[in-house]
Amino acid sequence: RLRGVVALDGPSGTGKSTVARGLATALGASYLDTGAMYRAVTLAVLRAGTDPGDAAAVASVSESLRLEMSTEPERPGVSLDGEDVDREIRGAEVTGAVSAVSAVARVRELLVAEQRRLIDEALASPGGVVVEGRDIGGVVAPEAGLKVYLTASAHTRALRRSAQDSADGRVSDVDRTRDDVQRRDTIDSQRAVSPLRRADDAVEVDTTELDVPGVLARLRELVTERA
Ligand code: C5P
Repeated sequence: RLRGVVALDGPSGTGKSTVARGLATALGASYLDTGAMYRAVTLAVLRAGTDPGDAAAVASVSESLRLEMSTEPERPGVSLDGEDVDREIRGAEVTGAVSAVSAVARVRELLVAEQRRLIDEALASPGGVVVEGRDIGGVVAPEAGLKVYLTASAHTRALRRSAQDSADGRVSDVDRTRDDVQRRDTIDSQRAVSPLRRADDAVEVDTTELDVPGVLARLRELVTERA
């Protein structure tokens, strides 16, 4: 049984969300999707008609909203000012603007504080918590008992994102998805505040040749060894 935190970081299309939820369910742990938090702030920015590139305006939107996260792996969810926005935050508009919003230092400051609070809350009950994102092992929870950095080839990641979009009923095109994934990774890796980077003590798991059960089996081994 997991007692502490599992930090799961990596770029998009590595299967992070699927395996994070699956691992949390298997371990009886809570699950926190930090990407959903950055996406929800981005939705609020777009709804306010704010330019995602205007850091001061984005910061002020992020200060005046109320986010609520469900940390149940079977029913994850995010609500923005009381409205369930889980579906809307996965759409193309939010996806196109989220990297700009998540590069704003004030947004990260507020969300990281909230993420730490949610982790503490989850740790108060037995079962631990699986947290997925880009900076969990490095910034949000450097004390995590297990840190995993998921990777996969750019082609595989584009295919997975595209399949996910189709499954969710969104229009999808592999070439466009590949460009989008690459553009987002470049911004996420090069931003000044908490860039996407493997923490020194994270175990890298390349998922290119693995299916979901294969990745889950590897993660469960790592949990048994370390967490
Ligand atoms: O994981 P997901 O694709 O939903 O994340 C959306 C975006 O949120 C990422 O591209 C990144 O810009 C941002 N993000 C972040 N830090 C995290 C989680 C997500 O900057 N911990």
